[in-house]
Amino acid sequence: MDTKAFVRALPALWSDFPESELPLDARFGEILDEVPGLTKPNNLALLHLAAAHLPPGESYVEVGSFRGTSLISAMLDNGEKEFVAIDDFSMSDASRAQLDANLARFGVTGATIFEGDAFEILRSDALKDRSVGAYYYDAAHTYEQQLDGLRLAEPHLAEEALLIVDDTDWDFVARAVADYLELQPKAESLVEIGGKDTGAPAWWEGVHVLSWFADR
Ligand SMILES: C[S@@+](CC[C@H](N)C(=O)[O-])C[C@H]1O[C@@H](n2cnc3c(N)ncnc32)[C@H](O)[C@@H]1O
Repeated sequence: MDTKAFVRALPALWSDFPESELPLDARFGEILDEVPGLTKPNNLALLHLAAAHLPPGESYVEVGSFRGTSLISAMLDNGEKEFVAIDDFSMSDASRAQLDANLARFGVTGATIFEGDAFEILRSDALKDRSVGAYYYDAAHTYEQQLDGLRLAEPHLAEEALLIVDDTDWDFVARAVADYLELQPKAESLVEIGGKDTGAPAWWEGVHVLSWFADR
């Protein structure tokens, strides 16, 4: 994954990045209308761009798919790429059947869905043949879970990768990301955008994109 190319391309998705309330591509708002999720069109456009930058042979892995809003957005127009979603469907109103139906409704097919606890799946060999160029964590949100959500991704990451963390307005999420960056020199902060708590509700609860360089 060319993380610098991702950063260069990001602002062009909005008329006034990061202030705009909506991305220029209206499809992300339409997805959210059809598949209500815990996110905003701006966050969905960012995920889509990350997936669009995957080179051949690298995968997008999403932890926490809920009804499929973020996964559908990442997969739009990216049919030739490889997608993996992990969810234990523990959240109320989350179900595998609903996720499958929503993916089908938008005609996005071929994602591998692992149903179960993300931490067990990341520790297992489920991802062993994959090289993850874009990793999106939006699941269990305690401090320890956030930190594990980043650390356990490491063995699966490509040489250069994006780590995208949702809900970084929350104190314990922000602390986990800050501590991770402090402890892991291979990761660096790339783009940090505050959300509702910083007066920018169009970015949900905030998002922080990290770059990973295995040889940094
Ligand atoms: C905030 S929602 C994800 C929202 C989604 N990305 C969207 O676009 O709307 C969090 C998801 O994480 C899942 N989850 C929570 N804890 C988990 C765990 N330990 N392992 C796997 N999935 C988990 C929940 O079932 C829920 O679907």
